[in-house]
Amino acid sequence: MEYKNILKDSPIAFFDSGVGGLTVFEKVKKLLPQENYLYFGDTKNMPYGEKTEEQLIEFADNIFKFFEKKNAKAVVIACNTSSAVAYEKLKDNYNFKIYPIIQSVCSTLAQLDVKKLCVIATPATIKSHTYSKEIAKYNSEMEVIEIPAPNWVRIVEEHRINQPQSIEQVKEILEIAQSYSPDKIVLACTHYPYLMDVLKKFMPEEKFIDPSVFFAQNIKKDLTVLNDKFEYEKFYVSADPENFKTASELFYKLTELPELITL
Ligand code: DGL
Repeated sequence: MEYKNILKDSPIAFFDSGVGGLTVFEKVKKLLPQENYLYFGDTKNMPYGEKTEEQLIEFADNIFKFFEKKNAKAVVIACNTSSAVAYEKLKDNYNFKIYPIIQSVCSTLAQLDVKKLCVIATPATIKSHTYSKEIAKYNSEMEVIEIPAPNWVRIVEEHRINQPQSIEQVKEILEIAQSYSPDKIVLACTHYPYLMDVLKKFMPEEKFIDPSVFFAQNIKKDLTVLNDKFEYEKFYVSADPENFKTASELFYKLTELPELITL
């Protein structure tokens, strides 16, 4: 693919169903502080993990079209669910580089000194088996156990992280994971790092892998057209800007409300 009309000061654009993608965004921004940025949180269609394949492809396609109009030089799918379900279908249709989280990080995960890896993710990501398929491409010996966590994204978006019912829902899934005695657990939804304070109550923090650390490094390594001076970052949502600003605070403090748009 030849990436035409890409200017060095064109923005790098991120999307997710909501605030989860900010866990990726803040890491990329630290590594590439001179770039301009766009971020779209598709809060109207959250949670993605409960949507069908057709819906997820349509959401991603509309978001790509929006970023195309904004002349993005690269689009970061800061969402495991969309990477699992929509990326393959749309990847050749656009004139910018697309970075999907799962496909980017699995070669690194496959090289870890781990025999049994547990992947906790949204129901749609788990149903796709993208993690086990991608890891098997690089390491067929690693045992990958995939477990869905249906409620975790809503806990984050509805800022109910420290409520007893939420803690119980986190514990339930971790008990299932623990029954397999995994060496490590991948937080395979970009919302899950927001739950670290609760996760730590039940298992040591070192047990968990936040793949966005590898993802941000891979993006930095791969990006060829680099900007030399930061000028702007702009946030958009499809619903409820106030809620987005509040829910995002643990990872990124927005200075103003995101702009509400309809795609
Ligand atoms: N944060 C996204 C992911 O990584 C989407 C979660 C959702 O909306 O269900 O999968």
